[in-house]
Amino acid sequence: MTDAPVDLFTKFDPLIAIREGLLATGVKDPFGLVMEKVLSPTRAICNGKETILLGTYNYMGMTFDDDVIAAGKQALDEFGSGTTGSRVLNGTYAGHRACEEALKDFYAMDHAMVFSTGYQANLGIISTIAGKGDYIILDIDSHASIYDGCKMGDAEIVPFRHNDINALEKRLGRIPEGAGKLVVLEGVYSMLGDVAPLKEMIAISKAAGAMVLVDEAHSMGFIGPNGRGVAEDQGVLDDVDFVIGTFSKSVGTVGGFCVSNHPKFEILRLVCRPYVFTASLPPSVVATAATSIRKLMHGSNKRAHLWENSKRLHAGLKGLGFQLGTDEPQSAIIAVIMPDLEKGAAMWEALMNEGLYVNLARPPATPAGMTLLRCSLCAEHSDAEVGEIMRMFENAGKAVGVI
Ligand SMILES: Cc1ncc(COP(=O)(O)O)c(C=O)c1O
Repeated sequence: MTDAPVDLFTKFDPLIAIREGLLATGVKDPFGLVMEKVLSPTRAICNGKETILLGTYNYMGMTFDDDVIAAGKQALDEFGSGTTGSRVLNGTYAGHRACEEALKDFYAMDHAMVFSTGYQANLGIISTIAGKGDYIILDIDSHASIYDGCKMGDAEIVPFRHNDINALEKRLGRIPEGAGKLVVLEGVYSMLGDVAPLKEMIAISKAAGAMVLVDEAHSMGFIGPNGRGVAEDQGVLDDVDFVIGTFSKSVGTVGGFCVSNHPKFEILRLVCRPYVFTASLPPSVVATAATSIRKLMHGSNKRAHLWENSKRLHAGLKGLGFQLGTDEPQSAIIAVIMPDLEKGAAMWEALMNEGLYVNLARPPATPAGMTLLRCSLCAEHSDAEVGEIMRMFENAGKAVGVI
């Protein structure tokens, strides 16, 4: 007797119904946008129309930097289009090493390991250093790549309430004596754009004998006197065991990394599966990343302008009556809270019609079931563009009935 076939796609039916319901209201698919031409870090052609980009995480606007582009072109000419190999076989070129040197200089740390994405950096580092019998204590709003790294490594997972110092302390206190402990935090949480109280949390973690990993994906290049992130800004970078980061935001290309001062760090190159069992980044990508990272070391003017943009837009949107993710601007992310998915999608489309692109975010990516319009500012947004963005929000908000 043969069993009746089971359609493994049945589990997606609720999501398919939500999507169809949304499209039936007449809005375009907010998750299917095509950038037809990209003109600059802040402008693209979408649906045939010039559009201001306010949802790219291209914080420092490095994607069109002349030196970055020249480095990529030169590497493409000299080393070809791809490595076709793992970092531990034929996939380490001079450029990968140069990129790791740039990271070591940027963070003033002893070791740097470049991965093919930030997602893989979290997956690899977390799953390799915390395994069966160890404990990972993490903020409940952690990025998907952190959760996936935990799952892959088989450690016990102990989540604590978002940014709650007391909750972290309590969880740490309940972990069996002598167990290996890794506390995983983020500098900036990307959904609401809020910053973690790293100073207090790291002090508590260290007192409890835990190692600390901080994902600075959304703060690198921008926050901290040297752009090293929130841990640097709060004066606790020396107490962080592992910093995780990405090239897909301020650096302006693709790739991920971990930097550390741990004396045995280099052994990870042999045991970290998402590092070993995948092809390395193309030479042009590591060349653009290394050039961009070195330029970000001298980015203080750009950082200052990005703070101005963030503060001005936050105040402007608040003044218009929008509900925002934070009371004060804490990063280059400003999250506008929508009443529900339907209104959020309608507002997203109204903004597109105005000529403005933002990210529409919904559960499970968002906390507390929220629908968000996430805005990420760029150091290359001009004062005039920020003014235009506010006018577009006002028009769209009134048209949709959100303000
Ligand atoms: C906090 C955080 N960590 C890691 C990543 C993954 O970075 P990547 O795009 O390089 O895979 C992201 C990207 O969205 C992120 O927000």
